Amino acid sequence: MRMIAILSSVVFALASLAAASQTPAKAPQDPQQLVAQTPPMGWNSWNFFFEKVTDKDIRNAADQLVATGMKDAGYVYVNIDDTWEGQRDANGVLHSNEKFPDMKALADYVHSKGLKIGIYSSPGPQTCARYEGSLDHEAQDAQLYAEWGIDYLKYDLCSFIPGVMQKQAHDDKAAQMRLMVAAYAKMDKALKAAGRPIVFSLCQYGWDAVWEWAPSVGGNLWRTTGDITPDWDRIYAIASQQAGLERYAGPGHWNDPDMLEVGNGKLTLAENRSHFSLWAMLAAPLLAGNDLPNMKPEIKAILTNRDVIAIDQDRLGKQGTRAYSEGEVDVWTRTLSGGAMAIAVINAGDSRYSTHPFHLNLNQLGLHGPQSGKDLWTGKPITLSDGQPLELARHDVLLVRIDAPR
Ligand code: GLA
Repeated sequence: MRMIAILSSVVFALASLAAASQTPAKAPQDPQQLVAQTPPMGWNSWNFFFEKVTDKDIRNAADQLVATGMKDAGYVYVNIDDTWEGQRDANGVLHSNEKFPDMKALADYVHSKGLKIGIYSSPGPQTCARYEGSLDHEAQDAQLYAEWGIDYLKYDLCSFIPGVMQKQAHDDKAAQMRLMVAAYAKMDKALKAAGRPIVFSLCQYGWDAVWEWAPSVGGNLWRTTGDITPDWDRIYAIASQQAGLERYAGPGHWNDPDMLEVGNGKLTLAENRSHFSLWAMLAAPLLAGNDLPNMKPEIKAILTNRDVIAIDQDRLGKQGTRAYSEGEVDVWTRTLSGGAMAIAVINAGDSRYSTHPFHLNLNQLGLHGPQSGKDLWTGKPITLSDGQPLELARHDVLLVRIDAPR
């Protein structure tokens, strides 16, 4: 698994190197850019509820974001994923299904809590869960979202692949990709015409170097990989695939390594911490996906760690880089505003490092001499020295902020 992750990240990095050297910038007056100046933060229904989500679950999530202090920590989007869609009426107007009796009332409720609301669709005839998609109804759907007061749209390729790309372009891959880009551009245009700033989230699993063209079709974030699962190997593989993509991220346009699994499945506390730390280093959108009403205190402590969130939300918007790897330890660095820096050391291996301590090489990070910082998981001051042996538990992380690196 680890070898596959390394190989795929090497292939990925090479592909990125060969790619265009400049990220297409969006015009600063573009309202869609202004909505995501820092990576979007919130909660999405999919990773815990999947297709079972209801209106009540969304209201509960909104209530819990407020009650747990997550809203105050920055989590503002409450995003309904797939399976809210009903049928179109004779005029083509889409209605929500019986699980969501009144979308406008739901949006009003979420807004009344000082939060924002997101929704989900597909450019294809159907969504991934085989509910109604937006194909040929883009303008109508965008208008509907605006009328309901929707603030965020996740647009998931899915049935557009067999339904349009393969049907219309057969085996011509380049023509298929042009159809895909045009489909996202079409929804971007529809959202802009609807007149409400709506965060536009592209979900097409990183195909066709999406990071190169997503900003030009109004994308505020774009998935870079297939789906995440609450499992360390998958989380680590996804994080590894982000190395090399850092130059495509910035205010208004972000790489999206998928929604958080913090608090889901059988992830250990160390794995939850490492997952959250990596996403912060990656300037990733922080969309929690856990069972908020039953959140354990230690999970809440991870999701609301203000110091870690501040790394993610740093206003410079510079995504972190994997500085080097040694054995099964990865060292990531991130440049922060005001000349500060974050360092994350991840033990991706299955053993504790007490028998084989890892020696942090500060020179390799461009640092000289001992560095004073803050350990963001203990909250205590820490001094890092060159060659200092570090002991990290299995899948655990050392995350340090250095305000004045030398
Ligand atoms: C795809 C997406 C997931 C989720 C599901 C919903 O798999 O990648 O994030 O939205 O569809 O059906």
